[in-house]
Amino acid sequence: AGCGGGDDKGSGGDDGKLVLGFSQVGAESGWRTANTKDIQAEAAAAGFELKFSDAGGKQEQQIAAIRGFITQKVDVIAFSPVVTSGWDAVLKEAKDADIPVILTDRAVDSQDTSLYKTFLGSDFVEEGKKAGNWLVKEYEGKNEPVNVVELQGTTGSAPAIDRQKGFAEAIKANPNIKIVKAQTGDFKRADGKTVMEQFLQSTPDIDVLYAHNDDMGLGAIEAIEAAGKKPGKDIKIITVDAVKDGMTALAAGKINYIVECSPLLGKQLMDLAKKVKAGEDVPQRVLTEETTFTPEQAKAALPDRKY
Ligand code: AHR
Repeated sequence: AGCGGGDDKGSGGDDGKLVLGFSQVGAESGWRTANTKDIQAEAAAAGFELKFSDAGGKQEQQIAAIRGFITQKVDVIAFSPVVTSGWDAVLKEAKDADIPVILTDRAVDSQDTSLYKTFLGSDFVEEGKKAGNWLVKEYEGKNEPVNVVELQGTTGSAPAIDRQKGFAEAIKANPNIKIVKAQTGDFKRADGKTVMEQFLQSTPDIDVLYAHNDDMGLGAIEAIEAAGKKPGKDIKIITVDAVKDGMTALAAGKINYIVECSPLLGKQLMDLAKKVKAGEDVPQRVLTEETTFTPEQAKAALPDRKY
């Protein structure tokens, strides 16, 4: 196994090892880094040869990587699509080359579901709903306006689309809760900080920040503190992921609630790769199991948190 890949080893790899080509989104967040490490570790544990490629957040690079995997005749292709649209052509090329594809973490919007074998990952709409439901409960019985600013993930990505949708649906239960500003922070800490600075300048009375991931929330916390406000108190904060840095801020009361999104997809991915390579049937959709965390629960979970 190794990173980069490049030489054409043909199907089966060295010593008949299963060759898995994996195209990763990039390294935009703590979640992504944990996901990459887990996939690399589990590929090694499964005895696969991993050809790992980092797309640096660019769809063109992902398409080029997938084409490279096809040329190298890998056994299985897996990838986590940067955005949902624009995959049909390259997926068709993989299908024509008889190479099974596994969507990992994120979905594509292709109508033809025969272009991939299965989709392993979280239900992002559900995550958005969990975030919204917490907020509705938090303001239950209160009759006051609740101004929410939303830091969205990468524009056009499945988690940004779905987390926005699920949250918007859930907060309908309380018409006082309004999203007053929404902008992308590209799932990055630095962007979360910059966009939050703009929100704070343009919108004086922010009650709540909903950030589509921990990293953007953590960047926003820096902006909130620099503006002389207390994160978690003056502005309530809800995020998604539950990586260690997020959980630490939650335990410290700077974040109020985190919806978990597990990056540990490696083991399930290797099992699915083995099966699709063997021509076995696999479910069209494999969901990740996830929970939510309050500050107290974060304190309890932190000592054993692996990422
Ligand atoms: O696709 C999963 C999302 O991508 C994570 O929530 C976010 O942190 C990552 O960048």
